[in-house]
Amino acid sequence: MATIIDGKAVAAQIKKEIAEEVARLMAEGQKQPHLAAILVGHDGGSETYVANKVKSCGECGFKSTLIRFEDDVTEAQLLDTIRQLNEDDDVDGFIVQLPLPRHIDEQKVIEAIDPRKDVDGFHPVNVGRMSIGLPCFVSATPSGILELLKRYDIHTSGARCVILGRSNIVGKPMAMLMMQKATPGDSTVTVCHSHTKDIKEICREADIIIAALGSPGFVTADMVKPGATIIDVGTTRVPDSSRKSGFRLSGDVDFAGVEHLCRYISPVPGGVGPMTIVSLMRNTLLAATGKVYPKK
Ligand code: GUN
Repeated sequence: MATIIDGKAVAAQIKKEIAEEVARLMAEGQKQPHLAAILVGHDGGSETYVANKVKSCGECGFKSTLIRFEDDVTEAQLLDTIRQLNEDDDVDGFIVQLPLPRHIDEQKVIEAIDPRKDVDGFHPVNVGRMSIGLPCFVSATPSGILELLKRYDIHTSGARCVILGRSNIVGKPMAMLMMQKATPGDSTVTVCHSHTKDIKEICREADIIIAALGSPGFVTADMVKPGATIIDVGTTRVPDSSRKSGFRLSGDVDFAGVEHLCRYISPVPGGVGPMTIVSLMRNTLLAATGKVYPKK
């Protein structure tokens, strides 16, 4: 019988742990951790994500600041706000919610953020430090997956780990983290993508599959070795007229078809998803306490 990885329960537990730590810090007279978020425009998905981030800050005992701009904000205005947040000693970390309108160069915006406040872990300094195993902010999804592996005590040393997808935000960092000399880590990693040959055969060799393709139901029973662990990162909206919202979230794994083969499996929703916001909260606490980059 597979153990279903309950990301919702783990996320709730971590938020509780963070809130306790914040209460302890404040009782010692330390400053309240402070996360700021910049939101441009009114994209429905981004509005929801940012509202949830602000809500989580409250649950963790953090101060939060939301800075909003309309779609017609100029790149210069945005860069100026980033400069102010970089210099604001009260702000421990901040994020610029992506995607941004097309007239703004996203990479330029990411690189304008002080890496010491880049709690999203998107700045090339943090990505580079992560890839060579230095203290850094690890981005939310890979960090959430590592935490699930850790909390479920899933054995990764010497395991064959197949990562499906090579995106900058999941596949590539996940490959770096699973191969690093650490626990979790020490895995033999194969990254598969749209040009990979014999993908089914490669997956069948895997002790751990991390699926981050955005292709609903891609991983089927004929690709899974009995006893494997599967982490499903897919979150594709598929139309569903029986839902009030008109859609449901579908993972990259045919959960019903493969569950009986697995030792551990993470569902969608309720697996990796709930972990991403708590990863941001953990990074904010690390920023506030100077655990990654010493405070100036
Ligand atoms: N858009 C979708 N996911 C994210 C995230 O983790 N951080 C930011 N800044 N924008 C996003």
